[in-house]
Amino acid sequence: MNAVIAPHDLTGTTALVTGASSGLGRRFALTLAAAGAAVGVVARRLDRLEQLVTEIRGAGGRAAAVCLDLTRTADIDPAIDAVEAALGPVGVLVNNAGMNINKPILDVTEADYDTVMATDLRAVFFVAQAVARRLVGRGTGGRIVNIASLAAERAVQGLGVYSAAKAGVAQLTRAMALEWAARQINVNAILPGFIETELNTRLLNSPAGQKLVQSFVRRRVPDPSALDGLLLLLASPASAAITGSLFVVDDGQGFTVH
Ligand SMILES: NC(=O)c1ccc[n+]([C@@H]2O[C@H](COP(=O)([O-])OP(=O)(O)OC[C@H]3O[C@@H](n4cnc5c(N)ncnc54)[C@H](OP(=O)(O)O)[C@@H]3O)[C@@H](O)[C@H]2O)c1
Repeated sequence: MNAVIAPHDLTGTTALVTGASSGLGRRFALTLAAAGAAVGVVARRLDRLEQLVTEIRGAGGRAAAVCLDLTRTADIDPAIDAVEAALGPVGVLVNNAGMNINKPILDVTEADYDTVMATDLRAVFFVAQAVARRLVGRGTGGRIVNIASLAAERAVQGLGVYSAAKAGVAQLTRAMALEWAARQINVNAILPGFIETELNTRLLNSPAGQKLVQSFVRRRVPDPSALDGLLLLLASPASAAITGSLFVVDDGQGFTVH
């Protein structure tokens, strides 16, 4: 039997968090750093990433920021190279960056569709592939945590293309877990319900959003710390036997969101 381990100690691990310039990604980076990981943070807004790196270093952690537009597939590998040059080989990926264009399906343009799919599905695929190729090459195994959404499983007004992309992320998670299981790369997904971030502040503060929140069984919207425990579990040695799993974290919202 394996020795009992401190489940969330990530000392000696390098984690890469996409979309860390705000919202959930920022929180994920802070949480992983607090658990001892060196954290590479990528997004387009470099000023925000640099503030985050300063904050992590100020608390005694290690971090590095790299500017990356994830829709530019050719830029993904050089960005990971830069993170690894600064912090060492990436062992944990949090594939978090995402966006939405909230529109009824009848109004969605081809450009809207392509933008959402390029960010929320294609980039998730190619970042995971790039990190997994490195993990396979090194033979080290690792952890990939894809951030999908409750919308992968529920239809929500205005989120048609986003829902399809997130359902794709959920199914990619299972496919990647299957193909990489023998390489000791664990791939899981978190499906958050509504959590207040820049992605949905406007919606949640609108009359329709307020009505939606009042329809939730707990009549509230959690903050990003709601995901801390699950993220740490999925990034850490404690989840060695968990792969290909999808975890809904929605504060019970799914009971009333259809
Ligand atoms: N908040 C929720 O209620 C909720 C619920 C379910 C799922 N999610 C998912 O959680 C993830 C994080 O969302 P959030 O709520 O934290 O939203 P957010 O505050 O808007 O953050 C989105 C992040 O993605 C980055 N990003 C977007 N497009 C990018 C691109 N082309 N290249 C690089 N980075 C890009 C943004 O950085 P830059 O703009 O600086 O590039 C930002 O850091 C998303 O995948 C979202 O779908 C959120």
